[in-house]
Amino acid sequence: MVWTSRPVKQIAGTLRAPGDKSCSHRALILSGLASGTSEISGLLEGEDVLNTGRVMAALGAQVERVGDGAWRVEGVGKRGLQSPSTDLDFGNSGTGSRLMMGVVAGYPIRARFIGDASLSGRPMGRVLDPLSEMGVTYEASDGQRLPLTLQGRSDLNAISYTPPHASAQVKSCILLAGLNAEGTTTVTESRITRDHSERMLRGFGAEVKSQRQGAGNLVSIEGGQSLVAQETIVPGDPSSAAFLAAAAMISPRGGVVVEGMMSNETRDGFYRAAALMGAPVGAEDIGTAAGERLIDMSFESADLRGAAIPVDLVPSMIDEFPILAVLAAFASGKTVVKGAAELRVKESDRIKAVVAMLRVNGVAVEETEDGFIVEGCAGNVPGGGLVETHHDHRIAMSALIMGTAAQNPVSIDDAAMIATSYPDFMAHMAELGADISEGQP
Ligand code: S3P
Repeated sequence: MVWTSRPVKQIAGTLRAPGDKSCSHRALILSGLASGTSEISGLLEGEDVLNTGRVMAALGAQVERVGDGAWRVEGVGKRGLQSPSTDLDFGNSGTGSRLMMGVVAGYPIRARFIGDASLSGRPMGRVLDPLSEMGVTYEASDGQRLPLTLQGRSDLNAISYTPPHASAQVKSCILLAGLNAEGTTTVTESRITRDHSERMLRGFGAEVKSQRQGAGNLVSIEGGQSLVAQETIVPGDPSSAAFLAAAAMISPRGGVVVEGMMSNETRDGFYRAAALMGAPVGAEDIGTAAGERLIDMSFESADLRGAAIPVDLVPSMIDEFPILAVLAAFASGKTVVKGAAELRVKESDRIKAVVAMLRVNGVAVEETEDGFIVEGCAGNVPGGGLVETHHDHRIAMSALIMGTAAQNPVSIDDAAMIATSYPDFMAHMAELGADISEGQP
């Protein structure tokens, strides 16, 4: 179903950031493994996260919704996970499926992992290879993809592993398997990636060591540790808030405050890049939640300038390149993104999808092997295009944001998948004054 975003003069208001997707998955997983009853509040009730909750329930945890964003989970504790009687369906979620492969790995159970067409096309070798080294066996579709059946074991070998790609999903998968392995499992990251698994494992009582090594990180976990139930308040999602921030920055009269956002240097690359492009970004400390710092952030209209995005920022803004491309389209001058080949294996090939999104709206852009180069329109983005989303929520939201300030409406071919990560997106955008509705312009 086509949706269209029409240009508006002002994007303004104050909103609470939706719960962080990465932390929501991890809160459900660790609560489901712990002994005792955990309480979670502020959980992101997006489809991806709900699938992780259903999977934990299929593996023996008791997962119950007790209010808006409030969940109670009785973990399996020492009893351990049970073999599921149904397939484990992860829908669209790379994070859910890859983290859960690490979890299942450490129990003597067999489980079949399935997902939608997008997830079934994504590479799983990056987690299956290290898990095989630890002793797991599996049968997968061609090219190590879903659907796949994994056989875990109670005597996993600990490994030392250096992932070839900077990936928090791979790191987290190995650490979760390492929790039940014999000995110390170590992951060496050449570039530090989001560290929510490490922080939350510590919050649930496990010892996880991490040591910075230049731009990288060495993380290790001792096998055989038990987790204890906790109360977790999920912090606000900086990746979802980036859409609200960008809407304010490109608007002729933008002024948006996002409350309760997580501030974590492994996630703030977009905000650093926006500052480099000339956007004033305000931040005020308001406390902590789930081992993370919380801030209120404010954003306003900006005269954006193109920039060469530092390669060092890539892992900390890996999900934000579609919306960064929108800022680049409105900026004056050239924006260069490189060192971001991982974008090709996200929910869509995000380099191709971003390039097509800009081109169909009259913005000059060049595709490169590991990024893209945008010639900014200095505020005057023509718009008027119908964007192919390829079932990718972040492409869909980026295109709708572009439509709020382009010269002509911007449409997308489908909006249903936005609910995987940001079910309140349409309501939040309406609150800020956007004109987004179902149908053609
Ligand atoms: C995530 C890690 C990132 C990111 C994804 C969430 C996580 O993936 O793109 O949206 O929660 O660990 P990679 O680890 O594949 O970069």
